[in-house]
Amino acid sequence: MTKTPDFYDRMLSLGLARVSEQAAIASADWIGRGDEKAADQAAVNAMREELNKLDIAGVVVIGEGERDEAPMLYIGEEVGSGNGPGVDIALDPLEGTTLTALDMPNALTVIAMGPRGSMLHAPDTYMDKLAIGPGYAQDVVTMEMSPSERVQALAKAKGGDARDITVCVLARPRHEQMIEDIRSTGAAVRLITDGDVAGVIHCAEAAKTGIDMYMGQGGAPEGVLAASALKCMGGQMYGRLLFRNDDEKGRAAKAGITDLDRIYTRDEMVTQDVIFAATGVTDGSVVSGIQREVGYLTTETILMRSKTGSVRRMSYRNPTK
Ligand code: FBP
Repeated sequence: MTKTPDFYDRMLSLGLARVSEQAAIASADWIGRGDEKAADQAAVNAMREELNKLDIAGVVVIGEGERDEAPMLYIGEEVGSGNGPGVDIALDPLEGTTLTALDMPNALTVIAMGPRGSMLHAPDTYMDKLAIGPGYAQDVVTMEMSPSERVQALAKAKGGDARDITVCVLARPRHEQMIEDIRSTGAAVRLITDGDVAGVIHCAEAAKTGIDMYMGQGGAPEGVLAASALKCMGGQMYGRLLFRNDDEKGRAAKAGITDLDRIYTRDEMVTQDVIFAATGVTDGSVVSGIQREVGYLTTETILMRSKTGSVRRMSYRNPTK
């Protein structure tokens, strides 16, 4: 019997950076052009093409949607040359399609990879999320606490009071009550219009970003990507899948999820070593956006490995002709 090669994350990580770089470069011409779909399609095509150059036997577990909805990078699609380790892949070729189309901050291309069977097959539903950065005792904040209780608990653990806490939240009507509760403590709310993968990552670099905690409901696939990032950078995260109808419950069943109320920790969403790459499309506090000069595009990529906790930031100047 031939042995499947091990998940050799050290070498693969550099390949992963190229994948997210190429997706970002492909979306560059669509920044600020008002066309979300074209921006997304360009990133999807480029990500898939570059991914297929890697020596992996990859399966997309978090992708562009179900097979009948997405022609490319759909859930279950096999990617890579087929010669190499069996891996799970979570990706979002353009996280923040609207942000890109409107040239607003924090649009990223994102991809994570781990050994086969290591990632939660999150269906395309919402997820209630809670995240904080590293350096706090386990479970200092929990899903069971109210938003204001979380703020108070985190403030105490930080050694300050609620005014020392900033919480990042997606600006959606569904979060109005939560925002009111957070603000009632004296804490600040940083509203983002889209892009909660970046929102969660911000918690891991609180001193730089000014964000201590992320909470609220966003895409479940984005939850697994954010958990991958935090597993590399440190920090705690919880997620509970949310289902609005039977169709969404059916998606969960298809993904093998039976306990619909389960709260997943970071390490239950991503159970083994993971590598994570994200490239800035528009400027953000995680990485800079694409810089354009005549004849060149320059990207910045953050590349991380959970095994070592290493975080690289790589700048890539690429001739456009
Ligand atoms: P897209 O880039 O796919 O548009 O997703 C952006 C995003 O803001 C995610 O970051 C977030 O998880 C999700 O959409 C929130 O969904 P909704 O816009 O339905 O509230």
